[in-house]
Amino acid sequence: MESDYEKKAAAAKSLDWIKDGMLVGLGSGSTAAHMIRELGKRVASGLSIKAVPSSDTTAKLAREAGITLLSLEEAGTLDVNIDGADEFNAKLQLIKGGGGALLREKIVAYNSKFNIVIADSVKQVKRLGKFKLPLETIPFATKNIITELDQMGLRPVLRKNGDDTYQTDEQNYIVDVDILSQNDLVTLNNTLINIPGVVETGLFLDTTDIVIMGGADGTVVFEK
Ligand code: A5P
Repeated sequence: MESDYEKKAAAAKSLDWIKDGMLVGLGSGSTAAHMIRELGKRVASGLSIKAVPSSDTTAKLAREAGITLLSLEEAGTLDVNIDGADEFNAKLQLIKGGGGALLREKIVAYNSKFNIVIADSVKQVKRLGKFKLPLETIPFATKNIITELDQMGLRPVLRKNGDDTYQTDEQNYIVDVDILSQNDLVTLNNTLINIPGVVETGLFLDTTDIVIMGGADGTVVFEK
């Protein structure tokens, strides 16, 4: 079961890496939200940083917390990015996008010098894929993409928001696929990305530098 206590512990610990003057990437999701609220408190006490949000929800939360925001264009390269994950393995490979923000999250991670993932202990897995892998797709192509993913045996499901199709901040769709039986994630990721209309996948295979995992007795830091 997910633990808010562990998420908060990981979120608080991650701020040890944030120093005055840094440009910081702000992730999305409930664990990142804890980090953003805590970062806001430190800014109120005098910490001087600027940040790039990875979703509209995060931007709103960060503004409310009193954090100065920049666009990615204004920021260029970020010093540190802190984000959550839906699953991570021993190689610090991730599944992300449960909250639908995978595209901007991956762009922010790619443009950051150091990537910190914060998570509660249920996110730690031996093998990625119990959590369905989100793919962000262009609406125009989505029906055909779903047919192709189905033929590949990936059991695609178009994400819904009530009766409507779920839409991302970039007005795209999300298709969730089953990758639990897949052994070669690099090849799988390349295959998926190469389908025209698939904009991005929630597989983050080589961006993460450290994972901070909350536990019952504090935090554990996993390094590459
Ligand atoms: C958002 O799109 C996701 O990538 C989140 O980072 C991920 O779902 C983790 O969310 P929680 O921190 O809420 O578990």
